[in-house]
Amino acid sequence: MVPILLSLPLLLGPAVPHEAQAGRYSLTYLYTGLSRPGEGYPWLQGTVFLNDQAFFHYDSESGKAEPLGPWRHIQGMNDWEKESQLQKFRESIYLETLQDIMAYYNDSNGSHILQERLGCELQNNGSSGAFWKSAYDGKDFIEFNKEISTWVPLDPAAWNTKKKWEPYVQNAKAYLEKECPGILQRYLNYSRHILDRQDPPSVAVTSRTTPGEKSILRCQVYGFYPQGIGLHWTRDSEVQESKSGGDVLPSGGGTYLSSVLLEVPPQDRHHYSCHVEHSALAQPLSVPWDSRQDTGAGDTGGTQSQ
Ligand SMILES: *[C@@H]1O[C@H](CO)[C@@H](O)[C@H](O)[C@H]1NC(C)=O
Ligand SMILES: *[C@@H]1O[C@H](CO)[C@@H](O)[C@H](O)[C@H]1NC(C)=O
Ligand SMILES: *[C@@H]1O[C@H](CO)[C@@H](O)[C@H](O)[C@H]1NC(C)=O
Ligand SMILES: *[C@@H]1O[C@H](CO)[C@@H](O)[C@H](O)[C@H]1NC(C)=O
Repeated sequence: MVPILLSLPLLLGPAVPHEAQAGRYSLTYLYTGLSRPGEGYPWLQGTVFLNDQAFFHYDSESGKAEPLGPWRHIQGMNDWEKESQLQKFRESIYLETLQDIMAYYNDSNGSHILQERLGCELQNNGSSGAFWKSAYDGKDFIEFNKEISTWVPLDPAAWNTKKKWEPYVQNAKAYLEKECPGILQRYLNYSRHILDRQDPPSVAVTSRTTPGEKSILRCQVYGFYPQGIGLHWTRDSEVQESKSGGDVLPSGGGTYLSSVLLEVPPQDRHHYSCHVEHSALAQPLSVPWDSRQDTGAGDTGGTQSQ
């Protein structure tokens, strides 16, 4: 089952740090609770990430924490029975919080959404950080401030939540500062090879021309990890401003894809190439566009795989 979480707008900003940095690792728990889920949907879903890679999933329907992707094959890394119990416990608190908020707003029958993002990060130099924030109906709700060890209400209804959670402030602080980095450290022993891997991009250059009209050149890169990539067209070695594209998107299997488009006037005789820079490439790739490969019918052209 595809977590609906991933199709909902991320009201708390990006789920995970956008650009992974070498020697920097994070463990992120991301939850979405819906007061009126659609038929057949669990009311609560959680996805847990190691850096930007989905590591396990939990939902209130199955009541089970289940590893995703390459983590399905790693033995001994986590006790999934125990993890399921922990997630179930979080689910009960989550439900209580959601109900409290709806009761505060006198709307116990409405359709509402509570999202929560918490976790921690570690750097190779021993430095660590943590975060815990939630949003109700797309607006900031409450946030844990570990410097002053307190819950900071960001919504009128959050004062009740703060009051309820205040006795557990030390637990929250200990969790964020000690327990979570410890768990992350243990996970890293089993996961560094996945998070530090370098998958080079494959490149496909294609074009589409209607007779007498300009050509649209398309350079698509896919299958790369990590996410950071440099991608542009050149005309006779001069960098061209792209017409569109450039967004880097997850392509499943933990890798990314991106593309850039360029418009070329009819009968243009300049040399066009797509340039690709990525940490997994020993040197930048340059894939030329060959106008003879343009069939006008759509996507054909050179493919270069590193
Ligand atoms: C909810 O209803 C109660 C009683 O009717 C009222 O006192 C309170 O102001 C209402 N709360 C909100 C947020 O409208
Ligand atoms: C809640 O909403 C449903 C459908 O919108 C309605 O059938 C039901 O009567 C409502 N219940 C209350 C207590 O308002
Ligand atoms: C670790 O490096 C980060 C920046 O990369 C820096 O902000 C932090 O202070 C460093 N921590 C220690 C303990 O050196
Ligand atoms: C991770 O592995 C190292 C050595 O392989 C070991 O010393 C350390 O205790 C492990 N850490 C955890 C948290 O399991």
